[in-house]
Amino acid sequence: MKFFIDTANLDQIREAQGMGILDGVTTNPSLMAKEGIKGSEAIAQHYKTICEIVDGPVSAEVLGTSFEGIIEEGKKLAQIHKNIVVKVPMIKDGIKAIKWFTDNNIATNCTLVFSAGQAILAAKAGATYVSPFIGRIDDTNWDGLELIEQIVGIYNAQGFMTEVLAASIRSPLHIVKCAEAGADVCTCPLSSITGLLKHPLTDAGLQQFLKDAESMK
Ligand code: G3P
Repeated sequence: MKFFIDTANLDQIREAQGMGILDGVTTNPSLMAKEGIKGSEAIAQHYKTICEIVDGPVSAEVLGTSFEGIIEEGKKLAQIHKNIVVKVPMIKDGIKAIKWFTDNNIATNCTLVFSAGQAILAAKAGATYVSPFIGRIDDTNWDGLELIEQIVGIYNAQGFMTEVLAASIRSPLHIVKCAEAGADVCTCPLSSITGLLKHPLTDAGLQQFLKDAESMK
């Protein structure tokens, strides 16, 4: 399973990249706005900087919702760097645009996916990635991980090439469960990635080893 970081914060991207386990980055308009990025030039520059930090796919989301608007924006985003993946919302014009990008060799990430039916449409349009939002499903008292399992099962049964990119990750356990379910990619906040490091027995064991190492000097 590939590890993407789900943020537009450059310090966090650098920190995850520094761990040597980062395969890519996903952003969305909320994450970009949180960093105070405003205007098309600043947006393009920010994506360029991210692409210079991480040598892997970087999802950049379109802001428009009409077919023409999505195509126009997506073409510009794709020109920023070869690793840019155009992130498109799961709406009718979005699906039409994903098909257009597929036919024109531009990588896409179909976002805001909350059902298996939506994931089938994204795969039919040839999306490179599909992004089911598991944390937001959990918030509504349903099990987001069940959706990951269902989509992985359907894509395997049908031979769809679209990669399942589990998004809206809220905890280290989500990452473990996504790996178990066969997700191709997990895009996570830095805290969930570093959360994987933690175990009290590791801390206690290391304390003892360090103490004993000291006695050997
Ligand atoms: O990038 C999309 C997704 O990961 C959003 O996560 O935590 O806002 O539901 P969250």
